[in-house]
Amino acid sequence: MTLLEQARSARSRAIAPYSNYSVGAALLSSDGVVYTGANIENATYGLTMCAERVALYRALHEGAREFQAIAVAAEGPVTPCGACRQLLWEFCGDIEVILEDRTLRLSALLPEAFDRRNLA
Ligand code: THU
Repeated sequence: MTLLEQARSARSRAIAPYSNYSVGAALLSSDGVVYTGANIENATYGLTMCAERVALYRALHEGAREFQAIAVAAEGPVTPCGACRQLLWEFCGDIEVILEDRTLRLSALLPEAFDRRNLA
């Protein structure tokens, strides 16, 4: 299965009763391990967790620290939200972002990002 196919497959595990909009993500680490995620919503809406962050936090918790690519799948074309772009930038760097309709670099989605280098 390609990374995008794994993201599509992960969509089936979304918990999205409020938006009815299921998103799946598949994050590929440098050593070839794939961590999947799907969005998880809750009754206060604002605590919703996007598919990308579920995949990222699973990966970080398992010890992964270097990444190659992330694929994101939804019903139609989707791009990661701003919060996910920031977190992916900080923890994954300029990875490949594979979307339903195109592939690009994270730096194209989040140019001139704030990160730890600003704090030095
Ligand atoms: N969502 C994601 O999981 N990833 C995205 O890239 C965009 C939005 C989720 C959040 C919410 O559960 C639903 O999609 C509608 O915004």
